[in-house]
Amino acid sequence: MAPIFSILFLISTAVFSATTARDYGFTVELIHRDSTKSPMYNSSETHYDRIANALRRSINRNKAVLTSDTAEAPIYNNGGEYLVEISIGTPPFSILAVADTGSDVIWTQCEPCSNCYQQSAPMFDPSKSATYKNVPCSSPVCSYSGDGSSCSDDSECLYSIAYGDKSHSDGNLAVDTVTMQSTSGRPVAFPRTVIGCGHDNAGTFNANVSGIVGLGRGPASLVTQLGPATGGKFSYCLMPIGNASMEDSTKLNFGSNADVSGSGAVSTPIYTSDQYKTFYSLKLEAVSVGDNKFDFPEVSSKLGGEANIIIDSGTTLTYLPSDLMSNFGSAIADSINLPRAEDPSQFLDYCFSTTTDDYEVPSVTMHFEGADVPLQRENMFIRLSEDTICLAFGAFSDDNIFIYGNIAQSNFLVGYDIKNLAVSFQPADCNAM
Ligand SMILES: *[C@@H]1O[C@H](CO)[C@@H](O)[C@H](O)[C@H]1NC(C)=O
Ligand SMILES: *[C@@H]1O[C@H](CO)[C@@H](O)[C@H](O)[C@H]1NC(C)=O
Ligand SMILES: *[C@@H]1O[C@H](CO)[C@@H](O)[C@H](O)[C@H]1NC(C)=O
Repeated sequence: MAPIFSILFLISTAVFSATTARDYGFTVELIHRDSTKSPMYNSSETHYDRIANALRRSINRNKAVLTSDTAEAPIYNNGGEYLVEISIGTPPFSILAVADTGSDVIWTQCEPCSNCYQQSAPMFDPSKSATYKNVPCSSPVCSYSGDGSSCSDDSECLYSIAYGDKSHSDGNLAVDTVTMQSTSGRPVAFPRTVIGCGHDNAGTFNANVSGIVGLGRGPASLVTQLGPATGGKFSYCLMPIGNASMEDSTKLNFGSNADVSGSGAVSTPIYTSDQYKTFYSLKLEAVSVGDNKFDFPEVSSKLGGEANIIIDSGTTLTYLPSDLMSNFGSAIADSINLPRAEDPSQFLDYCFSTTTDDYEVPSVTMHFEGADVPLQRENMFIRLSEDTICLAFGAFSDDNIFIYGNIAQSNFLVGYDIKNLAVSFQPADCNAM
């Protein structure tokens, strides 16, 4: 086995100091839940079953975001579309977890488990890890749990996450080494990473995942905790949902590997929402179809301030305010040369008949603040049956939080920089990366 490379150790020594931190980068695999590399892969599903299921999850996740009032983890837990493998402890114990830009804590089910959901893989046993330590209430880190209420000085710090769909995870806040297998073949280890060791977890979790790796903006997220080594940067390049190559994994890059620059790269500010500190909140100013530009309406967004939309890798569709959605959808219908059709899955409003994948689409641009993002066909449409394609955008009547979902992000290198508060987009062929 290759030696474990400890970046935190390196940057704490004088020799490597800040330069190492700036130049340091690594990449891990990001696995789509429906890819053949995923334990959730179901070979009896057709391609169209998978798309319909992804739409259903997307709608449930969006509903959970809308109805949730908790600031800590307002996301539908099982909405995550991508999985990541990490190891916890010494020796490293590998788990497959949902990678979620819409939540913060890194947690896994832990032995002994008084009330755990059924998990097909073996469970992490903290008593077998030489580096595992429960966080005491007296530690400042205990504030990461967002719950200091029942914490007295001489006891262990507990965390409690309630997701928008009423699922929950409760347990010990702890520190342990988190190791990831980089695609270069060298494991990278992060000692003393704050994790949740869940002894009571229930709800709609899938038996084939052992927890959640939060990639949000809160202090307990993987991104924030790796910040000293990676400069708070990560990026991904998601393959189009309809692409057969979805069977391959994609990449999740950190640090210098996550730089997004060069031809076509644009960037837009990240805003901090008082209520939803976890989210990557952006400002979408307008959407244009050909020469028609439709402004994002003044709506009372729960995000508050300038921001009006969150970007999320775990939501499949893009959700817009209903006025904007109807302007956008009608403009597409007027300019695409295809007959209207019904959505066979009944989720989507703007569907068209065609059997070819080589249809013409109007030019569409998402105008984020300071960043015009031109969409390609695969960012706008998904095929729902042999003869039907639908616009992968939706609206809800109770307009609150709008989401820039993963279909719209596919075939872009999407970079997040939580230090400089920017999200960048660069057109890319994610199959080739
Ligand atoms: C989980 O994986 C097992 C095989 O490891 C499989 O039999 C089972 O159907 C999967 N469960 C779900 C919910 O996908
Ligand atoms: C796999 O897909 C088939 C066909 O949609 C479905 O009937 C079955 O329940 C699925 N299995 C699992 C484990 O989800
Ligand atoms: C899938 O990706 C390949 C390689 O980029 C491309 O040639 C092909 O057209 C794509 N298929 C679909 C359905 O988008």
